[in-house]
Amino acid sequence: QADVRESLYLVSEYASKYFQNILHKTDPGKAIGLSYFKERGFTEETIKKFDLGYSLDEWQAFTDDALKKGYQLEFLEKTGLTIVKGDKQFDRFKGRVMFPIQSMSGRVLGFGGRILISDKKAAKYLNSPESDIYHKSKVLYGIFHAKQSIAKEDNCYLVEGYTDVIQFHQRGIKNVVSSSGTALSPEQIRLINRLTKNITVLFDGDAAGLRASLRGIDLILEQGMNVKVCTFPEGDDPDSFAKENSLDDITSYLEEQAQDFIQFKASLLVKEAKNDPIKKAETIRDIVNSIAKIPDRIKTEIYIQECARIMDISEAVLFSTLAQITKKET
Ligand code: CTP
Ligand code: MN
Ligand code: MN
Ligand code: MN
Ligand code: MN
Repeated sequence: QADVRESLYLVSEYASKYFQNILHKTDPGKAIGLSYFKERGFTEETIKKFDLGYSLDEWQAFTDDALKKGYQLEFLEKTGLTIVKGDKQFDRFKGRVMFPIQSMSGRVLGFGGRILISDKKAAKYLNSPESDIYHKSKVLYGIFHAKQSIAKEDNCYLVEGYTDVIQFHQRGIKNVVSSSGTALSPEQIRLINRLTKNITVLFDGDAAGLRASLRGIDLILEQGMNVKVCTFPEGDDPDSFAKENSLDDITSYLEEQAQDFIQFKASLLVKEAKNDPIKKAETIRDIVNSIAKIPDRIKTEIYIQECARIMDISEAVLFSTLAQITKKET
């Protein structure tokens, strides 16, 4: 099994080198892939740092090349880079710009591939499937390049996408990782928890999924971490915002806008439940549920007081709700 895994690492490493080579050394790579990245504002240095690549718009260009180089079909298939149908083989990634996903120690585990032209029939991003080396719930995009900075800054920015990570780096903010479209998992949080107790979650300014993401944040509280959240203006995400603004502007935006998660959630819920007593009751249970996840009793107490103020309700009610919830759980 260890041998299989090692073979999958080698195939993935080779693929990453291959896609980079296509991007930098071939005509279609330069004309399509490289110019796409340049238009997004990525510098040559950034493109190299993140080992970005391009997959040719052909059916089996990569697979043919890898087989010729002696990589076995079995392992190409197991990484998901090659799709085998009967006696035919196809490349999974075709005509896409490629983002290799690296482990904490920098090994290539899988890929995200972005389509260039917006096409409603095809997914914008195509990702490697789970494999013996790629477990989506245990990986954070960018962790290899961010780990030192996360420890040094004693904070980690958590963003939604690949390009958010990359653009922040280019601007000089390096303590940033992405869960890349998957729901945040306890294992992913543990990766960060080893480096810092502080997370700032940055949401795209499209509100889509904001409510859903709030649930995932309870998992961070459960691990005893401090959570702040920050949203971006409508239509912006960290990538587009960082592209349009200077480092100073980004830094001050983050400092001004980042808000304690519990306070953020309480304010949001209060606004939503306005003049609706039943909804307000649900809302109180919802926020106390989050507070109940915090292992530190002193913090719990402070948050209860804070939420009572924000939601305009007595502390006693919140404390008794908390007691109910913790009793049910133990
Ligand atoms: N994602 C995915 N598959 C999709 C759409 C999104 O896997 N069809 C993941 C990607 O990791 C993506 C992240 O979810 O980076 C965030 O999605 P979105 O905000 O839509 O994409 P951006 O990262 O902003 O990408 P771009 O700026 O290139 O549109
Ligand atoms: Mn690199
Ligand atoms: Mn989004
Ligand atoms: Mn986005
Ligand atoms: Mn974007």
